[in-house]
Amino acid sequence: METETAQEFYGRWAGLYDLIARRTPGIPALRRRAAAACQLEPGDTVVEMGCGTGANLPYLREHVGHHGTVVGVDFTGPVLERARELTSEYDNVHVVRGDATQPPLAPEVDDTAVDAVLATFVVGMLDDPAGAVDDWCDLVGPDGNVVLANAARSQEWYAPPVNAVFRAIVILSTPPTTKLRYENEPHLHLDAKIDAAHEHLRTRSAAIADETHVFGVVRLTGARLE
Ligand SMILES: C[S@@+](CC[C@H](N)C(=O)[O-])C[C@H]1O[C@@H](n2cnc3c(N)ncnc32)[C@H](O)[C@@H]1O
Repeated sequence: METETAQEFYGRWAGLYDLIARRTPGIPALRRRAAAACQLEPGDTVVEMGCGTGANLPYLREHVGHHGTVVGVDFTGPVLERARELTSEYDNVHVVRGDATQPPLAPEVDDTAVDAVLATFVVGMLDDPAGAVDDWCDLVGPDGNVVLANAARSQEWYAPPVNAVFRAIVILSTPPTTKLRYENEPHLHLDAKIDAAHEHLRTRSAAIADETHVFGVVRLTGARLE
């Protein structure tokens, strides 16, 4: 029930979301950085979980080139239509409808051949963010890369006004019938999920890059796996 509601919400707002996802100052640079953190080589295969309207897919395609493969997975039909339009010029970028916690990768890719997984602004929507990250690490395997980027409260010295704006955005961008929106402090709940996902990724990594972007609100963690 909750899953359907999230799909309806993102489906209804796909156009507006696409605008925000691609035009918000600081976000295109973050997407470029997140794609670079996947440490892809030409010819590699990368899967983006919860790809939304596809704003990261062109950056990933730049790194894997003509001979690589990019797969975007999302469970919301209308946002995927936008992702398809955005990437229609590439025959090696595939957009697949499905659950990011059980990604349907065949026939586009052999799931033993995934070099990197990227998930931006997604783990906060999952019931078990650390469990999903664990599965994505298993999918990629040793020497592969998993990269997460998520918005959480800023810890910079100028954080109070930034966090007030952030709290309002979390409330407005949370599907209205999910429990999260009606909690008194939905941004704290979101922070806890994001902390759990990023922390779990650190425990699976041999090498890690941690950065913050956009006034300290966006956390990027890139891990090369053990
Ligand atoms: C906030 S949007 C982020 C989209 C994109 N990653 C970006 O950076 O613009 C979250 C997306 O995750 C998708 N999503 C959430 N949970 C999912 C799940 N379990 N399986 C597949 N997609 C999911 C939603 O449909 C939505 O498109």
